[in-house]
Amino acid sequence: MLFPEYRARRMRQSDAFRRLVRETELSANDLILPLFAVEGKNNRNPIPSMPGHAQLSVDLLTDKVREAADAGVPAVILFGLPDKKDSLATRAYAADGIVPKAVRAAKKAVPDMAVITDVCLCQYTDHGHCGMVEKGVIDNDASLDLLAKTALSHAEAGADMVAPSDMMDGRVAEIRALLDDKGHAHVPIMAYSAKYCSSFYGPFREAADSAPQFGDRRTYQMDPANAQEALREVTMDVEEGADIIMVKPALPYLDIICRIREEIDLPVAAYNVSGEFAMIKAAAEKGWIDEERVMMETLTAIKRAGADMILTYFAIEAARRLKG
Ligand code: PBG
Repeated sequence: MLFPEYRARRMRQSDAFRRLVRETELSANDLILPLFAVEGKNNRNPIPSMPGHAQLSVDLLTDKVREAADAGVPAVILFGLPDKKDSLATRAYAADGIVPKAVRAAKKAVPDMAVITDVCLCQYTDHGHCGMVEKGVIDNDASLDLLAKTALSHAEAGADMVAPSDMMDGRVAEIRALLDDKGHAHVPIMAYSAKYCSSFYGPFREAADSAPQFGDRRTYQMDPANAQEALREVTMDVEEGADIIMVKPALPYLDIICRIREEIDLPVAAYNVSGEFAMIKAAAEKGWIDEERVMMETLTAIKRAGADMILTYFAIEAARRLKG
């Protein structure tokens, strides 16, 4: 295939040709919208670093779920901001907790919307860590039971899928066992498997009020320098019963998405995280980039790398654009 016999530009000369040879097609069906639920009524607290997004009370969150459904988005993932935090994360697994409440309302309003719940303790612990803390140290095994109870409380409220994001070892197996035992064998687990200790979560921690109050998350989230280890993490979650595996963040970790897609035979999700969203919004606000084009290019690139689905704060905008 050498010039002049082969001319790469031949198949690029018209929109029709470009459509014929296009390898990656982004669809609204690929998108999952993250939402933040707070207590109260008609309560909307905008998140400054995530323009267009807000912490929403259940009534307003339900409207957002309808809006997403109208745009053609098939799924949302819910994060909860509890009324109170404590050392045992008791509001994480309470039947009347914020996430179960939001799940019930969302499922009632839009039964066809897949409602996924993030399962973690960091929004619910007073220290802001994703697991239990014993003498300043994250206690992996003591956290498993609480994580499983949290997932169960979501399933009992009607969640269609649970997504543990805590990065404790062994949590997928623990959650699977408890869900099965309590009659929720049909509820799939989307595991945040290769979740990196990333600085791109900054805006989210403001949104979810979940920043660690001491230290950082380096003893449980992965070192950004590691790729082989991601395969071990993913394999562990697959063997424990994960139905979907996730790589997070997405853009700085496209190589990880690509390798996992090649080596693992399960659907792969990628989380286009808050910092990735904020960077595009901020540059667009300054007039430095074309927001819509950069959004579509970003999501297409994540799909091209191998993601079957993308969790993104752009879900509604992108779905509308794909429809129109
Ligand atoms: C909680 C959790 C985080 C995100 C999703 N679940 C934050 C963290 O681990 O500190 C980040 C999502 C985003 O940045 O958009 N464990």
